[in-house]
Amino acid sequence: MSKALEQAAQGLGHTRPNPPVGCVIVKNGSIIAEGFHAFAGAPHAEASALSKLPIEEYADSTLYVTLEPCSTFGRTPPCTEAILRAKVARVVIAALDPNPKHAGKAISILGSSGISVTTGILEKEATAQLAPFFKWITTKRPFVTLKMAQSLDGAIADHAGQSKWITGEEARKDVRTLRAKADAVLVGCNTACEDNPSLLRDGEDGSAQPGYRIILDSRGRVSSSAKCFTDGLAKLTIYATSKHCPEEHRKQIEATGATVWVLPTEFSFANQHPTLSLDALFAKAGEQGFLHILCEGGAELASSLLNRGLVDELIMYIAPKILGATQKHTFGTYPFDLPTAPRFSISNISKIGADVKLTLKPNDLI
Ligand SMILES: NC(=O)c1ccc[n+]([C@@H]2O[C@H](COP(=O)([O-])OP(=O)(O)OC[C@H]3O[C@@H](n4cnc5c(N)ncnc54)[C@H](OP(=O)(O)O)[C@@H]3O)[C@@H](O)[C@H]2O)c1
Repeated sequence: MSKALEQAAQGLGHTRPNPPVGCVIVKNGSIIAEGFHAFAGAPHAEASALSKLPIEEYADSTLYVTLEPCSTFGRTPPCTEAILRAKVARVVIAALDPNPKHAGKAISILGSSGISVTTGILEKEATAQLAPFFKWITTKRPFVTLKMAQSLDGAIADHAGQSKWITGEEARKDVRTLRAKADAVLVGCNTACEDNPSLLRDGEDGSAQPGYRIILDSRGRVSSSAKCFTDGLAKLTIYATSKHCPEEHRKQIEATGATVWVLPTEFSFANQHPTLSLDALFAKAGEQGFLHILCEGGAELASSLLNRGLVDELIMYIAPKILGATQKHTFGTYPFDLPTAPRFSISNISKIGADVKLTLKPNDLI
């Protein structure tokens, strides 16, 4: 099953709105076929693994799959049929389908046809890998990972506003691999204006790969000449704005090939003006099949997400540096009261180059 999880990992960031699933088929103690779901419309992991050899080779094999096989017609035929046709003897499943309409259905179809079915193998690992899909299928909202990089004393810039770079090259490279696993990267308009980031992902060979970028700019402050609109990949840029953005600016952005979402605003007590409704943003992103969004800040957007309880996973890169007096704190926009402050449990700590990477889960999800 760990090999099946490795297969599934190859689809991360590419399968929306479908789940990243992996499959490995074993016969006489050897792996005879592997497969993963590469993108929506491509064969499912089981169908992909079952297409690698002549069908008779699969008789009496064991099929390991990270998510319960589908049993209904979607873009592709049901995987339960392909498994029955191949005369597989045993099916081992890590996680069950969270969709109540399908949960357990494949198990009864396969079981009633004489196939031995085992469930729950490496379920925790599969559930972690499938968490964005599970959230989306049950709430129609994307899973939100918030990533921030800061000094030891919680600063994202020094007293003069310098923010490049707080963490080292290895940590920044690690961020580009986080991007590769998400469907889209999200930033606030100050980050887009001040840093003019390209927000590209790293491919397996280290090359820059295209991925969706979402920029929040309710009043039309980000220039249409920013990198995200002019790097030849504008069709992968989503510009989320509001009726407060001048129409001419909206048209200029549209002319670059970017998609414009006009969203409702809500009054922000922190900065005393209307900002985009994050609820409307994630509803729209969910509607478009985005399973997993990686928010890369800045501080104001990160604080808004925390304030509204919208963070499903927090990743902090902490540089062993002290920046002292500064106006720029990682989550400095809202004051939180100690008894009710957002709390997290640490699920992983690692050293990346000279920096520390903390992966945290909000306490209410544990
Ligand atoms: N260390 C790190 O990890 C990290 C990461 C990213 C950025 N940064 C640094 O952070 C600085 C920028 O951060 P920042 O805090 O000034 O701004 P920001 O979070 O990048 O952008 C905030 C702006 O986004 C717009 N926005 C729209 N809807 C929003 C919503 N619902 N909630 C919050 N903002 C919303 C607002 O402007 P409108 O109301 O005009 O739309 C708001 O003023 C830069 O210096 C950058 O280098 C550091």
